[in-house]
Amino acid sequence: MADSFDVVVIGGGPGGYNAAIRLGQLGLTAACIDSRGSFGGTCLNVGCIPSKALLHASERFHEAQTDFAKLGIKAKVELDLPAMMAQKTKVVGELTKGVEFLFKKNKVEGIVGTGCITAPGKISVTLADGKTRELTAKHFIIATGSDVAPLPGVTVDEKQIVSSTGALSLTSVPKKLLVVGAGVIGLELGSVWKRLGSEVTVVEFLDRVTPGIDLEVSKAFQRILTKQGFTFQLSTKVTGVEKKNNGLAVTVEPAAGGEKSVIECDVMLVAIGRIAYTAGLGLDAVGVTLDKRGRVVTDHHYRTNVPGIYAVGDCREGPMLAHKAEDEAVACAELIAGKAGHVNYDVIPSVVYTFPEVATVGKNEEELKAAGTLYKIGKFPFTANARAKTIMATDGFVKILADAKTDKVLGCAIIGPEAGNLMAEVALAMEFGASSEDIARTCHSHPTLTEAVRQAAMGVEGWTMQM
Ligand code: FAD
Ligand code: NAI
Repeated sequence: MADSFDVVVIGGGPGGYNAAIRLGQLGLTAACIDSRGSFGGTCLNVGCIPSKALLHASERFHEAQTDFAKLGIKAKVELDLPAMMAQKTKVVGELTKGVEFLFKKNKVEGIVGTGCITAPGKISVTLADGKTRELTAKHFIIATGSDVAPLPGVTVDEKQIVSSTGALSLTSVPKKLLVVGAGVIGLELGSVWKRLGSEVTVVEFLDRVTPGIDLEVSKAFQRILTKQGFTFQLSTKVTGVEKKNNGLAVTVEPAAGGEKSVIECDVMLVAIGRIAYTAGLGLDAVGVTLDKRGRVVTDHHYRTNVPGIYAVGDCREGPMLAHKAEDEAVACAELIAGKAGHVNYDVIPSVVYTFPEVATVGKNEEELKAAGTLYKIGKFPFTANARAKTIMATDGFVKILADAKTDKVLGCAIIGPEAGNLMAEVALAMEFGASSEDIARTCHSHPTLTEAVRQAAMGVEGWTMQM
């Protein structure tokens, strides 16, 4: 076993494992260290994958309960929560093992342990058995990800007061679930437990759900979720929580201050964001600069202020998304190998995997207004899409924003069935600098949901035909 590498990657999530694999492909010797015991980081172990497994299963459960009868299917449906959780665990296990396989295939050494940079070019790894292994490398890539942002005064026990990690492994369906934060995690995991039978109340500090998403979409999203039975208390903050008779008494008050009230619940999910994680990494000892939010500061080539140390993924600036981490990993590995790695930050799609899904890419209307950009809008509702009708999923719409003068697509928001998959077409179009007319004049199969994207693109020039 060599103890000297071209690159040692610290963190085995989408940022870390993809960097290591790409380095291996490019012929560099690489090791990837992760403390978790199974590779894949937050994403594969306690993030994207387990949440999507439960979103899928709970959506099928809900569909069987509510939609099957409308389709002429009679079924008696019963929840087997342990089996649902076991399926989730199985998928996670298969995918994390898959990363180990990819390491072997690309000659990457995967090391289970906690890394601490002791000097430029040197890292000490505390292994699972407590022993240490000293490694040297020409370059380090920090890909240590992020952790749950704490709610002041509230201690997460992962049983009654849970973060996303606990909410992915509850052993029974809470009668009443209180979600703090109407962001991506709150609405995805709130949806899981709502579909499985919980009464879900969401307390959000700001005056809207999913801040940052196109306002029109955000309002439509809240309306649809309210129709599904979610209760929202916006512009509200949690100020305390008390454990009481097997339940919780949560004190809330208006965000701007005012009269307190108490919400009783069985489980409280804290989902108010995530923060960069670099604890114990030795960054202060080697002098790597962090910003005010604890994120590793890098230049456009992912270089920190210390030569030979790079950072990618959630631990640096930008959206905390697995595919953003992956793209940065590839670019960083290519730059280290002397190639021209690059990430186009104008075209990073983002998806909320609720039902319906919400997907966005590029600029939203508020951002274009603020920048003084003149734009045109094309919109198309799923109520007018034939395929959406056949699958009984007509809530939502596609909204495309294009430059008023050049017609170049500047952004898109989709709320509707399969919005995440539909968005790939728009992202690709934007990557190629397409105009809305390019999308509108591309032949789209009938009957598909993609036709809604085409009709919205036609709408930019005012010739939507199917409405
Ligand atoms: P991480 O995946 O966090 O990996 C970092 C790894 O480094 C961790 O395994 C950590 O244990 C390890 N580590 C830290 N310090 C050390 C050290 N000193 N030594 C060794 N190892 C160390 N994103 C999406 O794009 N789509 C989704 O659907 C999605 N769903 C999500 C659902 C949930 C519930 C959560 C919490 C997140 C979700 N995300 C999703 C976000 C996504 O998981 C992150 O953006 C992504 O994992 C970031 O990748 P990363 O490699 O930067 O960090
Ligand atoms: P988030 O940033 O999406 O949402 C947090 C919400 O909590 C915001 O609406 C915020 O205004 C609110 N908030 C903050 N402080 C509050 C307080 N004290 N009281 C009440 N509300 C408060 O963060 P979230 O949902 O925790 O997710 C973390 C990150 O994980 C996201 O940034 C996202 O990038 C990533 N993620 C991505 C997913 C996806 O791509 N589908 C799924 C899940 C997570």
